[in-house]
Amino acid sequence: MLSSVLLASARSERIRRLVTGMPLTRSVVDRFVAGEGLGNAIEVTRGLTRAGLSVTLDHLGEDTTDRAQADRTRDAYLELFEALAENGLTKDAEVSVKLSALGRALPGGQAIALDNARAICAAADRLAMTVTVDMEDHTTVDPTLDVVRDLRADFPWVGVAIQSMLRRSEGDLRDLAGSRVRLVKGAYAEPASVAYQSKAEVDRAYVRGLRLLMEGTGHPMVGSHDPRIVAIALDLARLNGREPGSYEFQMLYGIRAAEQRRLAEAGERMRVYVPYGDDWYGYFMRRLAERPANLAFFLRSFVSR
Ligand code: FDA
Repeated sequence: MLSSVLLASARSERIRRLVTGMPLTRSVVDRFVAGEGLGNAIEVTRGLTRAGLSVTLDHLGEDTTDRAQADRTRDAYLELFEALAENGLTKDAEVSVKLSALGRALPGGQAIALDNARAICAAADRLAMTVTVDMEDHTTVDPTLDVVRDLRADFPWVGVAIQSMLRRSEGDLRDLAGSRVRLVKGAYAEPASVAYQSKAEVDRAYVRGLRLLMEGTGHPMVGSHDPRIVAIALDLARLNGREPGSYEFQMLYGIRAAEQRRLAEAGERMRVYVPYGDDWYGYFMRRLAERPANLAFFLRSFVSR
């Protein structure tokens, strides 16, 4: 209930203005977001990669309804690539993109998002880096997979996130056989007609998906902080004769950081999803919705000052 209120708030302009206008919000946001500037993203990338972790960088933004903003997002990624190259940080870094930030919601947006994503992939390709396309709410799955299919014709290493909560996802995972796929549980409020509603069902679907990915020939990216999922992934990797690096773990910046380091130290490839930029509101609200304790932490920060 609380989580659906928070997810609905993630899309409310009025609540966005209220939350982002509060002076103390920033200190809590910093737990989940690397910072607003490119320099912050580079600094965090340097720290994480020095500690043996890999990163996937997300220039924050979503639901863009302005063409100039979509192009600015593309350019922000191009600047990010330049900065990573200048700082010698390309080896352990990739980027994550949201097609809604690249203009998909605009009139003719599918072509605009594809063009912008293509420019990002071409820049990544020149640096031997990879790109993973995030998945947004269920209405966007088909258009996202269409763009990913087009991108993969030129850049076969393009990855995509698939959400185990969606009933359709097992079919999508079969269609994506041989690809880089990030399996996640799903962060959006979805109706029962398209999505499992209980945690147990979402988790069971996750394990079924993980089995398909680990048995397949692609590169599974295990996007979860759930200790049971991590343990099952390790078992499935072993069972399928996979070496670390032929699959990877991924977790979000600021969540279970000690576990991220422990997995990296145990020889696993651990990639941290590092969001940066000033458009952090939607991302932040989804993190609050995932865990009521985060909301308590957020509210406590007001009381304790
Ligand atoms: P679950 O929610 O069951 O949590 C397991 C445990 O992890 C919790 O008990 C807690 O300890 C910890 N935890 C989880 N969330 C936390 C939080 N916010 N704060 C503190 N602790 C937390 N979703 C999507 O719809 N599209 C996408 O493209 C992506 N991309 C993506 C990339 C990566 C790298 C990750 C890790 C996740 C995503 N997600 C996503 C988000 C994903 O769908 C999901 O909402 C979160 O990962 C939470 O689910 P868990 O699998 O961690 O399990």
